[in-house]
Amino acid sequence: MRWPKGLDGLCYGGDWNPEQWPEPVWRHDLALMRQAGVNLVTVGVFAWARLEPEPGRFTFDWLDRILDAAYEAGIRVNLATPTASPPPWFSLRHPEALPVTAEGVRLTHGSRDTYCVAAPAYRAAAARVADALARRYASHPALAMWHVHNEYATDCYCDDVAAAFRRWLRDRHGGLSALNAAWGTAFWGQQYHHWDQVLPPRATRYLPNPHQLLDFRRFLSDELRAAFREQRDLLRAAAPDVPITTNAVFGDWVPVDHRDWANDMDLVSLDAYPEGEEAEEQTAFLGDLARHWAGGRSWLLMEQAPGALRHGGAWVRTVPGQMARLSLSHVARGSRGVMFFQWRASAAGAEQFHPAMVPHAGEHAPIFAEVRDLGAMLPRLAEADAGEVSAQVAIAWDAGSWWALRAPHLPSPDVEYLAALRRAHRWLWRSGVTADFADLGVDLSRYRLVLVPSHFLVDDRQAASVRRYVERGGHLVVWYFSGVADANGHVRLGGVPGAFRDVLGVRVQEWRPLPPGGTVALDDGTLATTWCELVELAGAEVVLRYAEGQLADRPAVTRNRYGAGSAWYVSARLADAAYDRVLAAVSAAAGVGPVVAGLPSGVEVVRRADGVHSWLFVLNHTDRAVRVPVTGWELLSDQSVSGVLMVEPDGVAVIRQENDGVDGRAHGRVPGD
Ligand code: GAL
Ligand code: ZN
Repeated sequence: MRWPKGLDGLCYGGDWNPEQWPEPVWRHDLALMRQAGVNLVTVGVFAWARLEPEPGRFTFDWLDRILDAAYEAGIRVNLATPTASPPPWFSLRHPEALPVTAEGVRLTHGSRDTYCVAAPAYRAAAARVADALARRYASHPALAMWHVHNEYATDCYCDDVAAAFRRWLRDRHGGLSALNAAWGTAFWGQQYHHWDQVLPPRATRYLPNPHQLLDFRRFLSDELRAAFREQRDLLRAAAPDVPITTNAVFGDWVPVDHRDWANDMDLVSLDAYPEGEEAEEQTAFLGDLARHWAGGRSWLLMEQAPGALRHGGAWVRTVPGQMARLSLSHVARGSRGVMFFQWRASAAGAEQFHPAMVPHAGEHAPIFAEVRDLGAMLPRLAEADAGEVSAQVAIAWDAGSWWALRAPHLPSPDVEYLAALRRAHRWLWRSGVTADFADLGVDLSRYRLVLVPSHFLVDDRQAASVRRYVERGGHLVVWYFSGVADANGHVRLGGVPGAFRDVLGVRVQEWRPLPPGGTVALDDGTLATTWCELVELAGAEVVLRYAEGQLADRPAVTRNRYGAGSAWYVSARLADAAYDRVLAAVSAAAGVGPVVAGLPSGVEVVRRADGVHSWLFVLNHTDRAVRVPVTGWELLSDQSVSGVLMVEPDGVAVIRQENDGVDGRAHGRVPGD
């Protein structure tokens, strides 16, 4: 990871779009930024039409003045390439570079993100504007980092995409017969006899080929990534000392494998927009994911909405203080700063009602006071960035499984990957346990417990790694619909959970999804809902049984001793009480506990530690003051704490402790313990 040039502490700021305002507002903005402690602004994200008003003619004077003014004000610039929003002239000149939907509709300019990433004209124009920016600003003293594009996530089904998809498929599969095998085209007579017959998964009559869907999603990730790399290479050549990122957005609509992309970036950055209820837990989930993408190291929160959350389509002001708590949750989880979308609320345009650090009402509105307070807090926390987050538990993360389970042909709509992941993460969060996300293929031995929710695709390397982990004493929980298929999405024969059958000591004979609203009692009085299975024991012991219906007396949850470890299988979608009980039992068996014991749910605690110190982040999301047993130095109040610290409702605290092997000890599993 490389850090923004010229910035030592944590980054603080947001997207600044001065091109939407007359110049006197720029000066006022910079004065307010200084008041608020802002040190980094993202500039130019959607400024292509302004920068290049006609093909090949660049107008940099206004951007020169912005960068100069920012520099004079002591504020650094995260300079964006504007390629997420091509100018209208571009689409009129290159109509073939407008995206085509799966249904064959060609879209028109008028919003943003309306381009085809595989269109040669788009790629050339994007490279040209990125190169022009690189040459112009490579040595500008305000330049701290490059922000390529904005939230790569678009798709297209046009002929250029078809050609690029075929090239990608040749690379991945080799010949046409390997492709036919990988896609199972013997089914429904889909054999391809010539490469020209192979297409993106355009709208078709009935269920599409799931292997084609999966490969297309993988292809999109790689194609978008190639477009990113082209710009990155130009920027890097012009300014080798300036780090490069692109802001990652996360959601079911985003065909990007961020963990994989991280290898191409100097610095991983995340846009986090939790929605509706449970914003705290969603924030933690996203922050933990970003840390995983960053290989466990620091990353940067590039965007969030200041002081408001989206509920459905509308933005709703959050309680005062929540903005700081959510921001510090990101810092606790490895973010080296706090950035927002956006600095000043736009008076016009599609996002005119989006919250901002400076709202329409101006700097006297309460949100700006919160912005200033947060800006005053962050410099006090900078030292904590030396610490790494340590987690006892890993949740398996696998982009392939996520994408494969988006397909429309599954045996139940309830095998939802993200929902399963969120649930496991939420349970840990509510229990005060810090989680990492991890790829199952890596060495898992530092974790006491590994949770594997609905990991549909498992390749042989991942299966072997899991086996090794349990054999050597690890604890594993696997949920239904895991290990079902290989990397191409072909079912592993002989009964699920195919790839994990030996470790789990069970064989599933049949799936028995329940009708909507259906439940089945378990023998401890708790319930299973929507998904059940007919499980045959093959070495495992029974932890819970189904207690009624056709599955009465059959195993529902099992545990298998395997080598020095244990592996649990959860064959049903458990209702909350059952889920809770099973995970509590598993955690106890694995010796997993909260970072600080005895705190009420809703008090978030994360520890970061280096060899010498540790930093305990305490975020009180509840409406009651909480007593935290801790000794050390509280950084925000700059006071010592001995024995106990009261944290007010909605309050935050960060306590530095000596890493003396007790309070600040590393919390991963010590090999052999
Ligand atoms: C982000 C995007 C920003 C802005 C924001 C609104 O996804 O990068 O430009 O649109 O959403 O929440
Ligand atoms: Zn296209």
